[in-house]
Amino acid sequence: ATRPLIDAFGRRISYLRLSVTDRCDLRCRYCMKARPDFLPKSEVLTLEELEQVASAFIARGVTKIRVTGGEPLVRRDVMTLVERLGTRIGAGLDELCLTTNATRLAEFAPRLAAAGVKRINVSLDTLNADTYRTLTRGGDLARTLDGIATARAAGLKIKINAVALKDTNAASLPGLIEWAHGEGHDVTLIEVMPMGEVEANRFDQFLPLDAVRRDLETRWTLTSLPDVTGGPARYVRVGETGGRLGFITPLTGNFCAGCNRVRVTCAGELHACLGRDGSLDLKAALRTGGPDALDRLLDEAMAAKPEAHDFRIGRGGSSGASRDMARTGG
Ligand code: GTP
Ligand code: 5AD
Ligand code: SF4
Repeated sequence: ATRPLIDAFGRRISYLRLSVTDRCDLRCRYCMKARPDFLPKSEVLTLEELEQVASAFIARGVTKIRVTGGEPLVRRDVMTLVERLGTRIGAGLDELCLTTNATRLAEFAPRLAAAGVKRINVSLDTLNADTYRTLTRGGDLARTLDGIATARAAGLKIKINAVALKDTNAASLPGLIEWAHGEGHDVTLIEVMPMGEVEANRFDQFLPLDAVRRDLETRWTLTSLPDVTGGPARYVRVGETGGRLGFITPLTGNFCAGCNRVRVTCAGELHACLGRDGSLDLKAALRTGGPDALDRLLDEAMAAKPEAHDFRIGRGGSSGASRDMARTGG
């Protein structure tokens, strides 16, 4: 019988976010420094190791895996992993998802769909090509939109992720939501989290979503929807567009009580919580441990999983986790 993963607060972990690379072809200003330190290849888990990690979690009752990065589609052999994990759908896995910046979707979307991926999340913070280029340090909006269109044509269900940024996209969020809903995509707005070192001041970037929500309520009718993913997003239906809109509010509203997820980085670090430092070394267990080494670490992670994150953003400074988001995969 499966021994489920249950933490010290009684939360059942059924969802693994698996980062396959810390690299990315973009450099979003809230996510990375202009010159990030990427891991040497020897530190990164091989395809076989990533699959072993996935198997260990599936054996413990994980039913949903989201492949993340960095940008997962910049890893050369990522489609092989996705295809292998795809064979587990219906045999332990219910859902295989991906979070991507869409720059390579025009090339990969049909293969993702063929592998059994049904839903993808795409990071897109603005529809202004100049703002996009500045924010991502070089990204080409037309290419990203083309990737999204190809994914839609391939039958993938798309959720647009937009990080709400006071200094960048505050005024254009309603337009982004209208566009996405018009295309048939869900949207989630995300509060920026103080993870890793970036050049900008987090306080200058931070836009609290309770204020954004109040502003949207002056133009649209928002009706709360029941929790669908067990994730941090709280969803509403926008009456005027007919679309779904989620709010991910680590700073202004805590959602940790319902947490169902853990993360594994591409270096094999198991993080029981996104917003806390401290991790367990799955790579060592994979490379030098015995047959039960991996499984024992999963139990340790359940004992160690904190009750909540501890993100703070203030005028005088911010605190959260010291590693980059790209390392953890969000
Ligand atoms: P679902 O799998 O549908 O729940 O998607 P998701 O929205 O959780 O995943 P996605 O990869 O699209 O991430 C969107 C944002 O949510 C990113 O900024 C993540 O860092 C953030 N996020 C996801 N899970 C958590 C979490 O457990 N805690 C916190 N603080 N943020 C999270
Ligand atoms: N705070 C909040 N969201 C972030 N993302 C990247 N860095 C941060 C941050 N510091 C988002 C990306 C992507 C998702 C996986 O995480 O925009 O949509
Ligand atoms: Fe790349 Fe996503 Fe980070 Fe942007 S947010 S730099 S697209 S990993």
